Amino acid sequence: MPTIRLDIRDGYDVQIADRVLARLAEFLAPRFSPRQAALVTDATVNRLYADAVTDGLTAAGWRVAKKVFPAGESAKTLANYQELLGFLADENFTKSDVVLALGGGVIGDLAGFAAATFLRGLNFLQLPTTLLAMVDSSVGGKTAVNLPQGKNLIGAFYQPSFVLADTATLATLPPENFADGAAEIIKYGVLADAPLFAELAAGKLRENLTAIIARAVAIKRDYVVADEHDRGKRQELNLGHTFGHAVEKLSDFRIPHGHAVAIGMALIARGAARQNFCDAEVPEKIAAVLRRYDLPTASPFPPAAIVAAAANDKKRRGGQITLVLPRRIGECALQTVDVKELENYLI
Ligand SMILES: NC(=O)c1ccc[n+]([C@@H]2O[C@H](COP(=O)([O-])OP(=O)(O)OC[C@H]3O[C@@H](n4cnc5c(N)ncnc54)[C@H](O)[C@@H]3O)[C@@H](O)[C@H]2O)c1
Ligand SMILES: [Zn+2]
Repeated sequence: MPTIRLDIRDGYDVQIADRVLARLAEFLAPRFSPRQAALVTDATVNRLYADAVTDGLTAAGWRVAKKVFPAGESAKTLANYQELLGFLADENFTKSDVVLALGGGVIGDLAGFAAATFLRGLNFLQLPTTLLAMVDSSVGGKTAVNLPQGKNLIGAFYQPSFVLADTATLATLPPENFADGAAEIIKYGVLADAPLFAELAAGKLRENLTAIIARAVAIKRDYVVADEHDRGKRQELNLGHTFGHAVEKLSDFRIPHGHAVAIGMALIARGAARQNFCDAEVPEKIAAVLRRYDLPTASPFPPAAIVAAAANDKKRRGGQITLVLPRRIGECALQTVDVKELENYLI
C-alpha cells in the first residue's frame, strides 16, 4: 500500500489503498484512541460511503456525529462554515476530537477550514473520494471557503493529521469529475515528471491508477515541503491556473476546475512556445494528452476576455503576474511579467 510521508509541522502520512473506508478504525488505531469524530460530507458521498465509515468507527468504540452539506461548489460558503462551527459546538467537540472530511475538494476545504479555526484548531483527517481531491486538494494544507466576490478568499494553511484515499470510491465518480483529476495529474507530469507524462500519454491512468496517484501525491509533497506557504516554488503548482481561473470565472463556474486548468495549460504552453521558452512540440504533446483524457484544449472565450479576467484577478498584487511556463515536458519555470505583457502569452 503506497504511503507518502509529509515531513511538515508534526508530519503526516498519505495512504492510498483499495476498499479501506470501512476499516478506517484500523488505520487510526496507531494515531488516535477512539474518541469523538465529526464526519463531514456532501449529500452524494453521504449516500454512497458515509455508512461504511460510521459503522466501522462505531464498532471500534468511536462516537460519530455526522454533518451533511449539499453537493457542489456552492456549499463552500461562509454560512455553511458557520453552520459547521455551530454543529461542532452543539456536539461539544473538544481540541482532542477529530474532524473527518469525506468527499471531494469542496468538503475538504470547508471541513479543513472549520477544523483549523474551531477552538483554534482540532485534529483533521482527509478521506478524499474524488481523483482531484486524492492528488491535489487533500494534500498540502490549503483550506478555504468562497465569498460572493471570489473563490477561496477566506482560508488558512492547516495540515491534516492523516490522509486516507480509498481508490474503490472512484468507481462511482462521474467521468467528468475523473477527467478533472486527470488534468491535475497531467499537470504534475508537465511540471516535474517526464516518465509520468509518457505513461499518461500512453493511456495508462486507469490501469496504473494507485501507483499514479501515489506519484502525483509525492510530487505535490515535494513542492509543499519546500514551500508550505506558497511564496516561491509551490507557485509552480499553478501551471495552467492563471488562464484556467480566468476561464472558470468567465464561464460563471460552469466549466469545472480541472477542465478549466486543461484549457489554461494548453493556452500557456502555446504561449510559452510562442515566446521561444519551449519547443513547439511541447504544446502539441500537452494538448494530445489532454484530449486523450477527454479534456478541452481550446478556450470558448476570446483572448482579450481571458487576459482581462486574469489581469483583474492579479491587480491586487501590484500589476505583476507570475506565470508558470513549461520549458520542456518535466520542467517548468516561474516568470513574473507585467499584466500588460500577458496578451503575448495568449494565442
Ligand atoms: N485545498 C487545495 O489545495 C485545493 C486544490 C485544488 C482544488 N481545491 C478545491 O477543490 C474543489 C473541487 O474539488 P472536487 O473536484 O473534488 O469537487 P467536489 O468536492 O464538488 O466533488 C465533485 C462532485 O463529485 C461528487 N463526488 C465526490 N466523490 C464521489 C464519488 N466517489 N462518487 C460519486 N460522486 C462523488 C461530489 O458530490 C460532487 O458533486 C474546489 O472548491 C477547489 O477550489 C482545493
Ligand atoms: Zn487546480
